[in-house]
Amino acid sequence: MTNRMEYLTFFNGQKMPILGLGTAQALGDDVEKAIDKALEIGYRHIDTAQRYNNEAQIGRALKKWLDSGKIKREDLFIVTKLPSTGNRAECVEKHLKQSLHDLQLDYVDLYLVHQPTGYQDVDPKDNGGKMLLDVNTDHVSLWKAMEAQVDAGRARSIGLSNFNARQVKRVWQSARIRPANLQVELHVYFQQAELRAFCRALDVTVCAYIPLGGPHRQPPSHNANAADANKLSNHIQLTNPVVSQIAQKHSKTNAQILLRYLIQLGVAVIPKSTNPDRLQQNFDVFDFELSPEDMDMLERLDKGPAGRQVRSHIPEMANHPEYPYNERYWFREKSMTDERVRTSLF
Ligand code: A2P
Repeated sequence: MTNRMEYLTFFNGQKMPILGLGTAQALGDDVEKAIDKALEIGYRHIDTAQRYNNEAQIGRALKKWLDSGKIKREDLFIVTKLPSTGNRAECVEKHLKQSLHDLQLDYVDLYLVHQPTGYQDVDPKDNGGKMLLDVNTDHVSLWKAMEAQVDAGRARSIGLSNFNARQVKRVWQSARIRPANLQVELHVYFQQAELRAFCRALDVTVCAYIPLGGPHRQPPSHNANAADANKLSNHIQLTNPVVSQIAQKHSKTNAQILLRYLIQLGVAVIPKSTNPDRLQQNFDVFDFELSPEDMDMLERLDKGPAGRQVRSHIPEMANHPEYPYNERYWFREKSMTDERVRTSLF
């Protein structure tokens, strides 16, 4: 087996490297150095968001590589996201243009709606530190503005993040240009088998954020299940004895097993690291294969909804009418084929 990158193919033929670099919470010099090192290692898929406040640093690192001629724009796969303060049709173009300016690019490969919930574009500092909800978020008109970005050549593909199955279906049904990708929390303790089957039936690819479970995440204080989340701390996931046993068998690290598992499920992964050794380690996941028995053992580690780490980035979000995590919209019998899933949906 060669250590070669694998790809997911979108409905429109565009190919996304199945492994990318996540950059949430990577700031300042750290992120610039991490991008530099990641490109040297061979990463070509970089995931950011306007909300991460690091597009300018990422842009500087990319420009250096593009200017040097060591890399061509078409070799890169750059993803960024519309912030929730811009979840209105009239704001999309402005935000994407700002991201492109900061990234020093003419287009992104994938532009995602970051959250199904919207906020007013008011500086929280002017409002006692609180974000103000925009309860009129309308995914259908928002999506039309996303489609216009593809028409204008600013985004090759468009997609969604943190949307639930009902919300994905609504956009999908109204779409002239379908969502190519859904980015959600997904890891071995929260495997989202139903949502994955749902997306497969609609030919929407899935990308996993915090694929290692977010080892250093603190459960947010406003999270009703903070105590549970604490117990589920990802230190446990990275040192889980089942994962360790499989890692030993393959002479790989636990992190490599966790990433390889998701890749073999057909899910793209964007582990975040700013550490050169861990960047290399996370990239070296294409020279081995988990057996069906390994896959079964890892599947059994799923904790279902109790494994979810991220509920809302800000406390107000849970009061939004489009808050995505209160409902279970769709139930799948395990034996259902993709075709049955698709016909059961419409
Ligand atoms: P660091 O940047 O110091 O490497 P996730 O993407 O699931 O949120 O995980 C990212 C977190 O896990 C970061 O805090 C990162 O820290 C750490 N991390 C990344 N890769 C590895 C690895 N191979 N082993 C252990 N921790 C890792």
